[in-house]
Order: sequence, then structure tokens, then C-alpha cells
Amino acid sequence: MWRVKSLDVVLATAEKKSLHRSLGPIQLTLLGIGGIIGTGIFVLTAEAAQKAGPGMMLSFIIAGTVSACAALCYAELASVVPVSGSAYTYSYTVLGELMAWLVGWALILEYAVAASAVSVGWSGYIVGLLANLPHPIVIPPELAAGPYAGGVVNLLAVFIALVITTLLVIGTRESANVNACLVAVKLVALGAFLWLALPVMKNGNFHPFLPNGWGSLGVIGAASSIFFGYVGFDAVSTAAEETKNPQRNLPIGLIASLSICTVIYLLVAAGAIGSYGAQPVLGAHGEVLEPGSMALQARCASLTSQPLVCSSEALAHVLRSIHHPLVGNLLGLAAGIALPTVILMMIYGQTRIFFVMARDGLLPEILSSVHPRFRTPHVVTWITGIAVAFGAAFLPVGQLADFSNSGTLFGFAVVALSVLVMRRTQPDRHRPFRAPLIWLFAPLSIAGCTLLFVFLPWQAQLRFLIWAGIGLVFYFSYGYRHSHVARGVTEVPELDKDAPPGPISG
Ligand code: ALA
Repeated sequence: MWRVKSLDVVLATAEKKSLHRSLGPIQLTLLGIGGIIGTGIFVLTAEAAQKAGPGMMLSFIIAGTVSACAALCYAELASVVPVSGSAYTYSYTVLGELMAWLVGWALILEYAVAASAVSVGWSGYIVGLLANLPHPIVIPPELAAGPYAGGVVNLLAVFIALVITTLLVIGTRESANVNACLVAVKLVALGAFLWLALPVMKNGNFHPFLPNGWGSLGVIGAASSIFFGYVGFDAVSTAAEETKNPQRNLPIGLIASLSICTVIYLLVAAGAIGSYGAQPVLGAHGEVLEPGSMALQARCASLTSQPLVCSSEALAHVLRSIHHPLVGNLLGLAAGIALPTVILMMIYGQTRIFFVMARDGLLPEILSSVHPRFRTPHVVTWITGIAVAFGAAFLPVGQLADFSNSGTLFGFAVVALSVLVMRRTQPDRHRPFRAPLIWLFAPLSIAGCTLLFVFLPWQAQLRFLIWAGIGLVFYFSYGYRHSHVARGVTEVPELDKDAPPGPISG
């Protein structure tokens, strides 16, 4: 189970596949921003405020710093191993099969569970938008949220997850141009928010700055949740095989997209806090209420004016509350248009990783079967899409995001470890991008991911452990014996020939 996949074989196989290399640094950066900006800033700002209050600005900095350290490690590995499969492939070539399996298994949380979270976030914005139209359309509460909020099923979230799945099955890929337009929509919406919110900031709204302190229901706990807002930059690395001069452009794409988003997030958080206020809602006895809990729902329902932390469409709510209802609705519309592309990238990334794992023999081969007409991995796409819709139907966005973060943090920590191990075991390998001060940043990344993991809600940690346990059982009962590396199969040309196209077209 410690067997590694030979890096030279991986690179040689990738070389032969020759997808058209069309993406440059700007498109990659836009791809990164397209994957990053989503439910995190549009929706989870409310959850972060419930934990940290105005101190959530520190949470954004902490989560951004951990992501930046992880991005440096990603950038180095992506430049050495510019092939599909992301963290899974990196760890296979460096740390061996068992770790690779665990990372691939954890990436299901990063991609599929995140897709559920974004679907729920989307639904929140659409429900709010419809209710605020001049002729309001009210979605019945039973169909607007799952049982956690007194509903039955989140119908709109299921709808969007299945629509995106269908699009992926019939072969829709996001074109780089469409992505650029959608990034523009998101940036214009956030720009409008800043334009209206920043000038009406009040100092008083920043006090008290740390209402709940630093703990798991305070600043660091909020950082663990808001970390979700930064996930997605690694989508850049999954486009490695379609990138011109990946050695130079991948690191640029990763680091530029992350830096730009961190600045935007900080400004938006400051705007929301300063213009409207972001203090947590406390229980009847002054106790801190957990975001997404029934207790918080009940408390919010009893208040006449809705604070930020009670909203499932945080930014639109702020704009409406500071007397810009039209722009609030337009921002809701922008979220409605742009969030589905995050879902598309997440489900796409998931199917791609399943595909690579099945091609390596660690998952049943049926998963890598390709639709005869559409040339897409339809079986795995449907399985993923239905699972995504199921999660979105019944679970709240915050819980989904925290569960997703647990897997992502694990994956990022392993990537950082892989970089260090590779520096030791293959010191002479050509590194087109050599991360600076790696002996500082990689350990920082591991420490940061561990810290954020430890401050996740215990339910998310427990779910992660159960998930990892199921993964281990699966590996030892299937992957361990079927692994192509174990059986000495280094290439599977007949499957390579059928490989579905990459994440983006032209
Ligand atoms: N970072 C992505 C989002 O916030 C996953 O939606």
C-alpha cells in the first residue's frame, strides 16, 4: 500500500494525450477566480459573523493565509506534475497508494459536498430574489429548505444540482470565454456592493470587535468555516493539461487568483460589517448560538428586524437593508447566474478525479466508462450528481461547507507534505516553479490546515473520521487488489483513448 506510481510514467502518459494547450496566465487566473468566488462570500459571511462578529475580518485573513501557503505547495507540485487528478495524483507519485487513496477519497468532500453546499447557497439567493420581486413569488417553506429549518426538502437546490449534472452528461464544458463573462458578473456584483456599502460604514459597527473571542465559536472557528470561500483555486491545477507553458502559468494562475480574492473578501466583509453591522445573535440567556442550529433559526424568527447573521442571502440582504433594494435584487440575480458555474466546476472536478482513480484500478472500471455519443463519463457523472442533489436536499449550507472543509484541509495538508518529501527524495528533479522558503511555508500550511481542522465543529470532524474509515474499508476490500500499479499495469491506452475532454474548452 506504500507503492508509488512512477512520476516518469505519469508524465510520459500525459505527454501522449496531447489535449490542446490553449490557456494562458490570464485565463487561468480567471478560472481560479471563477472557482473561488461563490457561496463562501455570498452566503457564509452570515455564518462567519454569527461566530466572530466584526472579527470575521481576522477570520478571512487567517483562512486566506492558510490557503496561500497551500497554494504555494500546489503550485510547485502542479508545475512538476502538470497532469489531471490534482492532489490525488501528486500524492500517488510521492507518498504512495494508500495516502493517494485517502486524498482522493477526501477530495470527494472537497468537490461533491462543496457542490451540494453551493447548490443550497444558490437556492437561498433565488428564494430571496423571488420573494423580493415587485410581484413576489413565495416558495412554500416546506420546499425552500430541509428539515433543519422546518422545511421538508430544498427543491431549488435539487433542481440546480440535477440541471448541472445533465449539462455535464451531455458534454457541456465551461468555455474559457463563458467563464470570463461569469467572473465579470461576480466582480461587478461585488464591486457594486462595495461602491454602496463602503461609503456608509460606521465605526460603531465594528464594536465590540471580538464578541465571542477566538475559540471554535469565535474567530478561528469562523476561519475554519470561511475557508470554504477560498476552496476552488486548485481548479486551476486540474487544467494543467490544457495550459500553455504550465510550468510558468500554473503558479501565476494559482497565486494571482487567490491574492485577488483575498483582497475582495476583506473589502466585502468590511463593507457588510461597517454598513449594516454583523454582531452575532445570542440566545435568551446570552449564550452563543451555533450557526445553522434550530436554536438560531427560532431566535431569528422571533426578531422583528433581520440581522445579517439570520440571512441566507447575506450580501443582497445588506444592500436591501441600506436602502438599495433594486441593486440588492440585481446582486441576487448575479449570484443566481454565477453560482451554478461553481457547481459545474465542482461536479466536473469530482468526475475527473473519479475517472483518474478508476483508470488506476482503485475504483471499479465501470466508473470510467464513457458515453458512446457524448464522450462524457456519464455513469460517474450521474452518481455524483444524484449524491450532490441528495445532500443539497436535506442539509444546511454551513454544515455542508464544514464537512467539505474537513476533506479539503486533509488534502491540502497532504499536498504540503508531498512537496517536502519530494524535495528530499527527488532533489534533482527539474522544478519549473520552485516555491520560495518551502521549509517555512509547507510546515505552515500543514500547521494551518491542522489548526482549522481542529476548530471545525465536532460534527464535521466526526463525519470526516467516519468517511475516512469507510474509505479504508473500501480500499482494502477493492482498490488494494485491483490497483493497476500493484498489477504492474503502467498504462491503459485503450482507456486513455476514450478519456473525456478536459475541464474547459477553447
Ligand atoms: N469557494 C467556493 C465558494 O465559495 C467553493 O463557493
